[in-house]
Amino acid sequence: MFDEYGFPKGADVDYAAPTLETFVYCSRAAEGVDDAEVDRIIDRSQRRNVARDITGVLVFGSGVFFQLIEGPPARVKDLIANLHSDPRHYDIVTLDRSVEKRERLYPNWEMELVGADHIHGVLQEALEAAEDENNIATLRRILVHLSSGPLDTLGRS
Ligand SMILES: Cc1cc2nc3c(=O)[nH]c(=O)nc-3n(C[C@H](O)[C@H](O)[C@H](O)COP(=O)(O)O)c2cc1C
Repeated sequence: MFDEYGFPKGADVDYAAPTLETFVYCSRAAEGVDDAEVDRIIDRSQRRNVARDITGVLVFGSGVFFQLIEGPPARVKDLIANLHSDPRHYDIVTLDRSVEKRERLYPNWEMELVGADHIHGVLQEALEAAEDENNIATLRRILVHLSSGPLDTLGRS
């Protein structure tokens, strides 16, 4: 009924729904990015996103970010450009990017920080669904880092 990102499978197009761009990615946190820095990212993101009609979810755990962003395509494109030049993370892997007429998955979350307990499963599912060779290689690298060695060395080798 739902795919691995929670999108309904085979749903009819809802022509009354807004046109939304969705961007789902994972990345590795740069050295020095800790919970306090992530709280600052969330605070600022929530203020920016509410003004730009962007909603979504951010997961942070074991030095890895996972984020789902949805909103008007022009605004989401601008944010994607910002994210790619933000030195607080790297190894950005696009897991899903689409433009569709649909209702929001997270209409009330202008960027909600959610627990990281399931990040391994989320990445594993993304790997199983991935087709792009670069994405597969990077996801495998992240998973190897997650399952081997001290987690605080993640992203520093
Ligand atoms: C993991 C991560 C998630 C982020 N999420 C958002 C977000 O949802 N919205 C946002 O405006 N900025 C977010 N940012 C910050 C942007 O990369 C960028 O700093 C921000 O858009 C401000 O850009 P500006 O300095 O050009 O104004 C995030 C940064 C990181 C590292």
